[in-house]
Formats: sequence, C-alpha cells, structure tokens
Amino acid sequence: MRRAIYPGSFDPVTNGHLDIIGRCSRLFDEIVVAVLVHPEKRPLFTVEERQSILRDVISGVDTGACRVVVDSFEGLLMQYAVEKQADAIVRGIRAISDYEYELQMALMNRRLEPRVETVFMMSAEAYSYVSSRLVKEVYGLGGSVAGLVPEVVEARMREKFGRA
Ligand code: PNS
Repeated sequence: MRRAIYPGSFDPVTNGHLDIIGRCSRLFDEIVVAVLVHPEKRPLFTVEERQSILRDVISGVDTGACRVVVDSFEGLLMQYAVEKQADAIVRGIRAISDYEYELQMALMNRRLEPRVETVFMMSAEAYSYVSSRLVKEVYGLGGSVAGLVPEVVEARMREKFGRA
C-alpha cells in the first residue's frame, strides 16, 4: 500500500492541482491532499472551506482505484508525513522557476526524514502558468478565470468577492 501526501495551501484549488491529483492517482494507492494551516497568512478561504471545496471537486476526478482523502495539517510537513506513514510527498512543478524552491524544500525534507521521498510531477502544459495567487488576483480585479479553476471554485469566489 503506497501512500502519498499532496500538501499545499489550495487557496483555492485550481485545475492544475486536480490534474496533478489525477496523474498521481495512477502511481499511488492512497493520496492525502493536505491543506496547510498557516495562522499568519490571510487566506481567501478558511481551511474548512478549502477542504470542503477540495472534497467536492475531487469527486469529479477519475482517480481509478486510488483512494483520495482530504485533510489539514499544522507545523512540520515531515512530522505529519511520519504520522500518516506516508511513502512520498507529491509536488507539482509548472516551470523551471518552481524548481529551485521545490528542490530546496525537498532536500530539507529529505534531511528531516530520509525515508519519505519527494516526487515532482509535471502538470499539463495548459496549466503551466496557473497559480492560486494569480487566479485570486485576476478574479479580484474583474478578470475571468473560467477554465482555470473548477466551476465550484468560481462560484465560491463570486460569493467571496460579492460579484454578480
Ligand atoms: O501550496 P504551497 O503554499 O506552495 O505549499 C507549501 C507547503 C505547504 C508544501 C510548505 O509551505 C510546507 O510544507 N509547509 C509546512 C511547514 C514545513 O514543513 N516547512 C519546512 C519545509 S522544508
């Protein structure tokens, strides 16, 4: 039984994240999508909202025989990974610019817990420029994010931003 953790802020989940979940479901028996509880950050969606949106949209992803669960964690990722008896951490890489920071984290995480591997996965090219941060910025300034996030996310952002 191979278990991976897919950690992140998911504020909000994008189609790029869902693409990674679909791809990684073909490699693992279980994926724990873990939302980071970050008390200092001021997120658009609460951790509970993000988890509920994730559960909703993941049900529409073909994950075959792989079980996908949504959870949240606080503190050190590697401590959480050990608690969950995870074999791997999955991170999506969009462009080379992501790589430097991701490599740094992966190596630090390996030093903390050598038994847990980090697996980098490449999202579909169509999502190579999509990030939660840009989605919020574009939507907040009145632009369209259709096709970049699930419709549920668009609807929830409409509520948050008070848009008709
Ligand atoms: O979606 P994000 O915000 O890029 O995800 C970043 C995340 C959650 C993977 C990273 O910030 C993290 O693992 N935070 C937990 C605290 C921790 O373990 N820090 C040391 C990382 S080497």
